[in-house]
Amino acid sequence: MKVIRVRDYSELSQRAATYFINKLTQSHFGVWGLATGGTPKGMYKELIIQAEEKGVSFQNLHTVNLDEYVGLQPNDPTSYHSYMQEHLFQAIDIPSENIHIPNGMASDLEKECDRYEEMIKGLEKIDIQLLGVGENGHIGFNEPGTSFDSRTHVIQLESSTREANARYFDRLGDVPTHAITMGIQTIMEASEVVLLASGKNKAKSLHALLCEKEVTEDIPATILKKHPHVTVIADEEALSLVLLTCERENEQVLKF
Ligand code: PGA
Repeated sequence: MKVIRVRDYSELSQRAATYFINKLTQSHFGVWGLATGGTPKGMYKELIIQAEEKGVSFQNLHTVNLDEYVGLQPNDPTSYHSYMQEHLFQAIDIPSENIHIPNGMASDLEKECDRYEEMIKGLEKIDIQLLGVGENGHIGFNEPGTSFDSRTHVIQLESSTREANARYFDRLGDVPTHAITMGIQTIMEASEVVLLASGKNKAKSLHALLCEKEVTEDIPATILKKHPHVTVIADEEALSLVLLTCERENEQVLKF
């Protein structure tokens, strides 16, 4: 696992965007797994700027998003469909048919999960999967206790997750109780994973990922220790516990 230590959120956003743009300039096509939430917003903004500066086209890119709330219409401002339009898709030249996000309004949610898995299989593989991490260690919406064998499924959100995301809704009661999320096995099948973490509230999750030996379904992000190609881009605050307690062990990975 490689760890890129950056000063702050602004540097994290720039480094992450450059990383993804370089992938695209190297191959001109591919499948990106994308994430939502507060963390990647800065990266998406930078991605748009850097793509314009470098004349990079997204015409041949396919994207598959990690998750979507159950019960929100795609055009609901708090849906992840809306988030992706607002923060990335409206500003780049990706064809709309290349964009994939779970349908949280499907009448048969189980069928929708199967369809999503089949769609990913049809794309062959996810070349690079972007992840954030929850304060409870979730990846995608795979909450603690989710099986490492899971594929795309419906999940009941933990109250800590709903509280963390309540800032995007008028009130806590409006935050959906369920979501469709790519499973942990689905995520692990991506050729490469890039995990972004910014801020003190991510320090415990990063400590579990980088310093503790245990791989446990109680902290879903710890499964990434078993993935052959993971890059963590994290700022000083997110790494604060790691730097305090296991800097020596991580000397190699933390020096850049
Ligand atoms: P955040 O969420 O980027 O809004 O902190 C990350 C996550 O829950 O995966």
